[in-house]
Amino acid sequence: MMMDAFNRKIDYLRISVTDRCDLRCKYCMPNSGVQPLAGQEILSYEEILRIAECFARLGVSRIKITGGEPLVRRNVIDLIFKLKRVQGIEKVTLTTNGTHLAEFIDGLSEAKIDAINLSLDTLNPELYQKITRRNALPKVLEGFQKALDYPNIKLKINCVPLGIPEQNLLEIAELAKNHPVHVRFIEMMPIGLGRNFPFKSETDIMQELEQAYGSLEPFNEVLGNGPCRYYSLSAFQGKIGFISAMSHKFCDSCNRVRLLANGKLKTCLQFDHGVNLKDIIRSGSSNQELEAMIKQALESKPREHHFTKKFITETETKSMFQIGG
Ligand code: 5AD
Ligand code: SF4
Repeated sequence: MMMDAFNRKIDYLRISVTDRCDLRCKYCMPNSGVQPLAGQEILSYEEILRIAECFARLGVSRIKITGGEPLVRRNVIDLIFKLKRVQGIEKVTLTTNGTHLAEFIDGLSEAKIDAINLSLDTLNPELYQKITRRNALPKVLEGFQKALDYPNIKLKINCVPLGIPEQNLLEIAELAKNHPVHVRFIEMMPIGLGRNFPFKSETDIMQELEQAYGSLEPFNEVLGNGPCRYYSLSAFQGKIGFISAMSHKFCDSCNRVRLLANGKLKTCLQFDHGVNLKDIIRSGSSNQELEAMIKQALESKPREHHFTKKFITETETKSMFQIGG
């Protein structure tokens, strides 16, 4: 079992396999795009597997594949297939924007992916185009529909409220009414371009939902990897969840670290702390040395983020497409 300096059990690893994305969400990426990492700078699948095996030996049992958009990296399904077979890894899940989901859902199912989180902020085609700067909603909805045909893959919707009146959150919430999926609202964090948006809190959204559908009953079970708190609504098949890093800080129960596409092991979303495991691997270190570096990095995992402080002195300059959420 792997514990950090604040006695938190770390058993969940998020792996960003690419910083590339086929969308340009306004709160995440500039319109012009960004210079992506060169092939050389990115961990190969062999390197990722080797690092995952080290983590598994140290006590990690769950892995999330993220990006950028993970499905734009070639053969990512092969990686998932292999990760699922790593001793000690019980669950492998994926976060995706859904543009390539229809194409890959069969393969994902064959690789035995356990769950998929689909990022979707609106069902309105014009607003979708405005937020993501791409006309991909039909493709995403096709992927969503297809994914519903795989009952073994747990499907969740992640929606980031942008604090703009055109975004109809009830429409998104109703995906959980009409389908057996959970819909989670994720408070915008002041990371990268996300800083530029008006903040809409969990409380604001709860009020909106209760006005439309009656009272939200707390559902006291953990579904998935962590910080989401769920509620039931009587006419809904799925739950409504909130991941509220701003208004309901959950650092106390943080159970995760992040491996970035460039090999950096990131121990907290806000800080730039962490070692680069790629450099360590490529300098010829043994697994034992690698595991020692990982443990050492965990010892300096920060206690909490300071997003809500007025003056932030230490901060992360990367954006979500480089971190993977
Ligand atoms: N705050 C919260 N969530 C964000 N995402 C991207 N930027 C932010 C931010 N600043 C979300 C995306 C996607 C996931 C990878 O992270 O909407 O669901
Ligand atoms: Fe949008 Fe995610 Fe791509 Fe960022 S990485 S542009 S949030 S789909």
